[in-house]
Amino acid sequence: MRIISSAIIINSLTKQYPGAKGKALDDITLAFNSGKIHSIIGRSGAGKTTLIRCLNLLEEFDSGQMTVAGQQTHNLTSVQRRTILKKMGCIFQKFNLLSRKTALENVMVPLEWQGVDKKSAQLKAREFLARVGLGGYEDRYPSQLSGGQCQRVAIARALVNESKILLCDEFTSALDPETSLEILALLRQLNQDLAITIILITHDMNVVREISDFVYVMDQGKIVEQNNVEQILLYPQHPVTKALLTGLFIRELPHHLQHSLTPVPSEGDVIMRLIFSRESSQSPVIADIIRQYDIPINIIAGSMDHLRAAVFGTLLISAPYQEATQKLIMSYLTQHGISCEVLGYLPSEVCHG
Ligand SMILES: Nc1ncnc2c1ncn2[C@@H]1O[C@H](COP(=O)(O)OP(=O)(O)O)[C@@H](O)[C@H]1O
Ligand SMILES: [Mg+2]
Repeated sequence: MRIISSAIIINSLTKQYPGAKGKALDDITLAFNSGKIHSIIGRSGAGKTTLIRCLNLLEEFDSGQMTVAGQQTHNLTSVQRRTILKKMGCIFQKFNLLSRKTALENVMVPLEWQGVDKKSAQLKAREFLARVGLGGYEDRYPSQLSGGQCQRVAIARALVNESKILLCDEFTSALDPETSLEILALLRQLNQDLAITIILITHDMNVVREISDFVYVMDQGKIVEQNNVEQILLYPQHPVTKALLTGLFIRELPHHLQHSLTPVPSEGDVIMRLIFSRESSQSPVIADIIRQYDIPINIIAGSMDHLRAAVFGTLLISAPYQEATQKLIMSYLTQHGISCEVLGYLPSEVCHG
């Protein structure tokens, strides 16, 4: 068996809509690893939907190449096109279920389209409805299902052809936060059980945090930043990424303190940013420093969270400045796997007053 490490590879993909000023896709080169979950984020109009529509062969691009599961997508015969489409399923914000068909019949649609006989199609559709947690709901119509259940039907329909790639465009936008989380958990389960590659667009940074392995940031038709989810969340580089992540983690000092921050060590406090990543120690390091070295550390702001099972996040702290104290804190933290950066110095009355 040939092992394909990239589910989809695109090379210099470019597209401009007729009459548009700028390019919707501007020279995009990417490889989506098999079996991983990829999130594409970006402001409205960045080109995300256009990209996913190109991946799904719904949209033509002007130039560039694309390979899906090892197959080039250029100049396809209709049989080749079908074979490629069979490898990819899609879910959307609006579920797009057929209202006159039951849940089971909706899931059977792609199988019938592929010419599978009715009996086998029913069997397979039942199996996939059960997989998405809807065993017993076969005969319900979409109007008799909740939003979350409709999205589950749509997921079953997208995967029933044994598709190995799932493309999702804003699929949680119409769901409440709790239902979104359930759908995310389901996708992660399917990703693990069936080794499905998932490529999703979202504007919800909680979705990104909950589910992604890799994150791609789009702006004006370009990929401006890409990395694994931890690096993107903890060390965002591009201004667009930082703007999109605002509010998810507190990384910067409150405004009123930022004005007084100086880069020169002085009488007063040193301000540090601590970043806890997956590898960081779970021990209460700040409390330990205070206790062991009798340094009065003050927590200014921060936000800690979980990325799957691990704690991560940022913490902004201040401590009375002395060169030796600063060195001691930094080396203690570094030894415990916490990255630590001096943001600057503040007169102590600013910090505590
Ligand atoms: N069918 C279309 N015809 C013309 N312009 C379009 C069409 N679809 C999208 N665009 C334009 O292409 C750019 C990218 O749009 P889109 O891919 O929908 O971005 P996103 O999904 O990131 O919001 C935008 O400037 C948008 O106005
Ligand atoms: Mg869009």
